[in-house]
Amino acid sequence: MLNIIIFGAPGSGKGTQSEYLIKKYNLAHISTGDVLRAEMKNGTELGKLAEGYISRGQLVPDDVVIGMLGHVLDSKKDVAGVVFDGFPRTLPQSNALDNLLKERGEEVSVVVSLEVEDPELIDRLIKRGQQSGRSDDNLETIKSRLDVYKDQTSPLKEHYKNTGKLASVKGVGTIDEIFVLISEAVDKVK
Ligand code: AP5
Ligand code: MG
Repeated sequence: MLNIIIFGAPGSGKGTQSEYLIKKYNLAHISTGDVLRAEMKNGTELGKLAEGYISRGQLVPDDVVIGMLGHVLDSKKDVAGVVFDGFPRTLPQSNALDNLLKERGEEVSVVVSLEVEDPELIDRLIKRGQQSGRSDDNLETIKSRLDVYKDQTSPLKEHYKNTGKLASVKGVGTIDEIFVLISEAVDKVK
């Protein structure tokens, strides 16, 4: 199975490129952000809990997201693998993912990190915020999302570099151009 982590800052194109990956390689897409937003929309306890964190641009606590991921993973059947989008975001999440995959006789295949500078990220998210209705697509929250990414999530890159799984890709250009680079990284581990 192909287990791809699509990694990068808010607005780096994780969701956009995931859509391409799942089609090309017949994979399931697990976006923890999408799952949390669906819970918010349905007004569940989990959704209510997540809402405050998301609108402030902070991470939802590890135990909550990790518990949720196990359930989501079990619901994905008959696929050639999984694209993990927006997970893991902390070292405990990354350890939890290793364990969840190990229990299933699997492991992370590759971590594709989309590299995009802050001004471009802010520009993309402000633009999207004009239609998305996402409670976190406003300048103040975007700035805290970027800070949280730098402080809590980007250190994972070093971790995956040490395990030999990191593939850094330039995340600027057309969506198709970027997808070619991502496909090259995936084909190496297929
Ligand atoms: P999440 O939903 O994961 O959001 P994010 O990481 O902030 O990233 P985005 O979804 O905004 O961006 P993206 O990288 O997917 O880019 P996209 O393709 O959309 O998380 C939201 C919140 O949920 C977190 O802040 C946290 O509170 C919580 N959460 C989620 N997971 C968690 C976890 N594991 N642990 C704890 N908390 C968690 O593209 C962005 C825009 O740019 C789009 O408009 C797109 O059309 C455009 N675009 C894409 N590619 C290009 C390109 N090449 N050129 C120009 N524009 C482009
Ligand atoms: Mg996304």
